[in-house]
Amino acid sequence: MSYQPKSYKISSVESYAKDVKLFKIKCNLNPSPGTFVEVSVPGIGECPLASCSHSRDYLELLTKNAGNVTSAIFNLRKNGSIFVRGPYGKGFPIEELKSRNLILIAGGTGIAPITSMINYIEQNKKLFGKIFIYFGFRDEENVLLKERIKKWEEEFHVFVGLSSDPDSHEYEKGFINDIMERHKPDVENTVALLCGPEIMMNVATGELNKLGMQNENIYWSMERRMECAFGSCGRCQIQDLYACKDGPIFRYDVIKPRLDNENSSQEGR
Ligand SMILES: Cc1cc2nc3c(=O)[nH]c(=O)nc-3n(C[C@H](O)[C@H](O)[C@H](O)COP(=O)(O)OP(=O)(O)OC[C@H]3O[C@@H](n4cnc5c(N)ncnc54)[C@H](O)[C@@H]3O)c2cc1C
Ligand code: FES
Repeated sequence: MSYQPKSYKISSVESYAKDVKLFKIKCNLNPSPGTFVEVSVPGIGECPLASCSHSRDYLELLTKNAGNVTSAIFNLRKNGSIFVRGPYGKGFPIEELKSRNLILIAGGTGIAPITSMINYIEQNKKLFGKIFIYFGFRDEENVLLKERIKKWEEEFHVFVGLSSDPDSHEYEKGFINDIMERHKPDVENTVALLCGPEIMMNVATGELNKLGMQNENIYWSMERRMECAFGSCGRCQIQDLYACKDGPIFRYDVIKPRLDNENSSQEGR
């Protein structure tokens, strides 16, 4: 693991929606699906971004222009330099997922680590059972990685829901739980991997529980604010755990009581 940022060349930049770009970087970091890197822009700062690919030759980063650092990353161009350190964290528990059916659920840029996992599955198809994929976006304009979703529809059971676009001809209207209720996944011998806003992971987990899935078979990606990314500064603490070092992927039965404690102590303030 590297604590020093290294400079890499940006080999391509693709735009999605108004405020999301996919940067492809030539490098051999090969992060495990669900882990992340710290990306920095000199003089501005750095921020954590999930690996959106699974390759020995390159790394893809899907970046939403959300503030100070991400807007500076957003301005980087093809053939320019980008500074990256890592990878960091514990990703999806690949060994435990083998021979199981998988449900992959993502909202917005949460599609990034899920894409890395899908790439892994595509490269190792025989290791897994049935694959159900649910994506939630606001409207058609904000659907990310459209072309890849089309390709995945030919390989897996893929369902896309738009929360506020009644006029879309291509996608269904509905929140992620509506889409899951309409197109029920197999839940026997199944593990679910979720990434997106906590409110979305909450409703999707409620739906999985309704279908009979236990919390020990559900994993959440916790995208907390971070600084050091290796368990030293305490910025990303969730009670006694560090999102950067113990996560960002956590088994839901492990993280739920800590999130409940956090919420009840905030309510008590
Ligand atoms: C493990 C991990 C993986 C991530 N992967 C991706 C990814 O693949 N693509 C992507 O676009 N973003 C990802 N993020 C979120 C990204 O790191 C933040 O958007 C970024 O740090 C914002 O920094 P900024 O300086 O641009 O914004 P700031 O100017 O610092 O903040 C802008 C706004 O965003 C909020 N914010 C900042 N950081 C976070 C955060 N971690 N979670 C929620 N809200 C935040 C702030 O409260 C503020 O309202 C990830 C975060 C983590 C922890
Ligand atoms: S970011 Fe510093 S401890 Fe997690």
